[in-house]
Amino acid sequence: MPGSLVTTAWAMDDGAKLYARHCAACHGSRGTGGVGVPLALPDFLAAADDDFLRKTIRLGRPGRVMPAFRQLSDAEVGALVRYIRGWAPAGASGAAIEKSSIKGNAGHGEKLYARYCTACHGVHGEGGHGTGVTFSRPRDLPVLAPALNNPGFLAAASDAMIKITLMRGRRNTPMPSFLRLGLKEQDIDDLVAYVRAFKPETLPDPAPSMADEPPVIERVSPYDMDKTVERLKEAIGAANMRLIRSEVFDRTFSDDGRENRRHVVVDSCDFNFLNQALKIDPRVGLFLPCRFTLSERDGKVSVSTINPKRLSAIFNNSELNRLCDKMHKVYVDILEEATF
Ligand code: HEC
Ligand code: HEC
Repeated sequence: MPGSLVTTAWAMDDGAKLYARHCAACHGSRGTGGVGVPLALPDFLAAADDDFLRKTIRLGRPGRVMPAFRQLSDAEVGALVRYIRGWAPAGASGAAIEKSSIKGNAGHGEKLYARYCTACHGVHGEGGHGTGVTFSRPRDLPVLAPALNNPGFLAAASDAMIKITLMRGRRNTPMPSFLRLGLKEQDIDDLVAYVRAFKPETLPDPAPSMADEPPVIERVSPYDMDKTVERLKEAIGAANMRLIRSEVFDRTFSDDGRENRRHVVVDSCDFNFLNQALKIDPRVGLFLPCRFTLSERDGKVSVSTINPKRLSAIFNNSELNRLCDKMHKVYVDILEEATF
């Protein structure tokens, strides 16, 4: 393609790329679920309008695994929403939801909730524990019930969204249709009123000072970019971490068309560690994916990664801190192995 020399390899407004970068590790590359609940679910997309998607991406689900993506621009969030909307079967866009206000009796809703919902969503709407889905195939997969008393969920969900979810259920997940289970539409309105009145559980205090730990761990490589990438991948394998992907950014091309690498990102994950850590504290999802960044400046290649110790300060959980220490050692070993 003459005349279209690429200076920035990834278009910032490309929803597919943004999704692959920020979401696929948890929600699956085609939205079929993973650590996160499935998003490419017709019943979900029929209930969730664009505003719900936008707010969920922005606010996340504080205290749960779903991070808040505050760093993305409005255009990027818009591109993500369009990309996710593209999975909806024709005619199933959230826009079709009736917006009329729903009048329910929260007192009656509470009784129904105790009877029909607590087993999965918890007595106070605190949700199931663990992660969204197993890593196995869909169908009989145990999708985790989301927290309904979550400030992120309550701020994102309209009454209509909750109502549609209760009426339709979400086929291929454990969430049933309560119309099919025999509840009347008025019962469903009562449940909506009750869920709407959930008080968000109080969130832990803001992070203590993290000033002591550097935000990143970095090592300078004696090798060129290709060799360093190769050694890094070997070191990741040797540490029993699974390589998720490796992507080159900020490519430029010299006159003869040769690629001049500047910036490579390598994502990997230790799923054992991840599962252990998620059991201790689901917010550990903020670590994902374990990312190594290689950059070349003035012919010198350096490799860096976030410092898990610095992140662990956010969580204020001593059990988790021990795991973060362990992860810190693993990261340092990998960087030193790659640049030795
Ligand atoms: C660290 C894992 C993780 C990442 C990364 C992540 N999510 Fe999530 N997401 C989850 C989990 C887990 C839930 C379910 C929340 C709960 O259990 O309370 C969720 C919930 C959601 C929901 C609400 C689904 C529903 O049924 O209401 C949407 C929408 C969503 N995520 C979109 C995204 C998008 C878009 C991205 C990327 C920008 C993203 N997520 C990145 C883990 C993740
Ligand atoms: C058998 C377990 C189960 C029962 C019983 C159940 N749910 Fe769910 N519910 C789920 C699961 C799992 C999901 C997530 C489905 C998905 O992947 O999209 C869910 C999703 C939801 C959502 C959407 C949350 C979100 O983040 O988008 C709402 C609202 C909800 N349930 C309300 C209720 C209410 C109210 C009841 C009782 C009337 C109820 N559920 C009963 C398992 C259950």
